[in-house]
Amino acid sequence: MLTRPLRVVVLLSGRGSNLRAIVEAALPIEIVAVIGNRPQAPGLAYARESGLPTFALDHTAYADRVAFDARLADEIERHRPGLVVLAGYMRILSPAFIERFEGRLLNIHPSLLPAFPGLKTHERALAEGVKIHGCTVHFVTATLDHGPIVAQAAVPVRADDTPAVLADRVLAQEHRIYPQAIRWFAEDRLVHDGGKVNLAGGSGSQSVLTV
Ligand code: GRF
Repeated sequence: MLTRPLRVVVLLSGRGSNLRAIVEAALPIEIVAVIGNRPQAPGLAYARESGLPTFALDHTAYADRVAFDARLADEIERHRPGLVVLAGYMRILSPAFIERFEGRLLNIHPSLLPAFPGLKTHERALAEGVKIHGCTVHFVTATLDHGPIVAQAAVPVRADDTPAVLADRVLAQEHRIYPQAIRWFAEDRLVHDGGKVNLAGGSGSQSVLTV
């Protein structure tokens, strides 16, 4: 049984537009901490201005990934989250960290997974000439950008798209599906079925959004 309202910790590294979309969606959650690994991240400034409890943990001050992730995990646990949301958190997480939060760790990735895991997804989509691109919310597992898929949104790719134009089109969809996925989690509607996630009380097509 989940604690209500759901206690959520958000991790970010940069701009924070997904955090903003989550905040503005007025979800039945309590954002108990926003933690950034880059002290100057605009997303942290936004969180602070919005009155959210905000913490900067500078990864460059730690000897290695394992040491930093252990400290980060302790900081997260202090806030007793039911869900940890990666919102533009641009560091690979160590296996020990993922194990500690598996099942309550969500990520958004700017491609239709399993296509284009990793970085520079929009450049790669254009280079491949795909006609449909998009974004994916998924549970985080030990394999990078490969966990059980919660929701996806697709967008058309146009012949004259640049990576920046395509990124903006995808980002608008990220801002729709991430709050939606978090709402489903908060409502306890995400049912794990092997490596897949089904939505309780709805048809599968509800987790596919297209424009
Ligand atoms: C988004 O494109 C997200 O999919 C990716 O990093 C970007 C973060 O953007 N993981 P923002 O910081 O939420 O604006």
